[in-house]
Amino acid sequence: MGRLVSVASGKGGTGKTTTTANLSIALGKMGFKVCAVDADLTMANLSLVMGIDDADVTIHDVLAGKASIENAIYSTTYENVHLVPAAIDWEHVVMADPRKLPGTIKPLKNRFDFVLIDSPAGLQMDAMNAMLSGEEVLLVTNPEISCITDTMKVGIVLRKAGLAVLGFVLNRYGRSENDIPPDVAEEVMEVPLLAVIPEDPAVREATLEGVPVVEYRPNSEGARAFMGLAEMITRIAGLKARVMR
Ligand SMILES: Nc1ncnc2c1ncn2[C@@H]1O[C@H](COP(=O)(O)OP(=O)(O)O)[C@@H](O)[C@H]1O
Ligand SMILES: [Mg+2]
Repeated sequence: MGRLVSVASGKGGTGKTTTTANLSIALGKMGFKVCAVDADLTMANLSLVMGIDDADVTIHDVLAGKASIENAIYSTTYENVHLVPAAIDWEHVVMADPRKLPGTIKPLKNRFDFVLIDSPAGLQMDAMNAMLSGEEVLLVTNPEISCITDTMKVGIVLRKAGLAVLGFVLNRYGRSENDIPPDVAEEVMEVPLLAVIPEDPAVREATLEGVPVVEYRPNSEGARAFMGLAEMITRIAGLKARVMR
């Protein structure tokens, strides 16, 4: 049985999609069979970040009852990584029923070691349905107080809903002198800090190229930090996941 991990945050732009893409590839490199799912139905861009833009059938078709999930799982050029892409046009968005997300995504657990769910920000209906498709949650925040408190809120709600909170990623660290330091962030969040990902121009460059940084620049600081996160997830999180069952 694999693990269903939602990637979530309070605000948009914290790095959820970047984390989903890089963590998927990092886990794939480690030999795990991974499925990355774009569950951000209105602002989908995971496929773009991963350099896949020719998907015919998407998660929107599945949620509209027009296709089965089998037809929306694509293999990628990244070792051991599969992807369920999303549509970007509004016509598909309005046809898709977000309430079907958990029922669509959860069965993937039987076929992959890790299913990573790229979720929308916040606690609105779309976001809740995406995040509740997971059994565990990885929180992503930036080192700013409002971002941390909003992400904390998401963690509290998801824990109440029965998800195991694995911990959080402090992303884009070092951009400003006023950044909240990792130890303080961890104290405020009250969940384990799993990785500090530095602000790294290579990450943005990789996004533009459509090749996540762990593949694009494996030796960059950002890539190393994402590889470290993957190792952390397999160690600590695996233990927690077992305790939970
Ligand atoms: N560690 C980082 N260093 C530099 N840029 C980053 C980093 N993490 C994310 N970004 C950039 O920030 C932007 C938003 O990231 P994204 O993953 O799309 O956020 P979200 O999915 O949470 O809305 C992207 O342009 C991405 O390249
Ligand atoms: Mg995103």
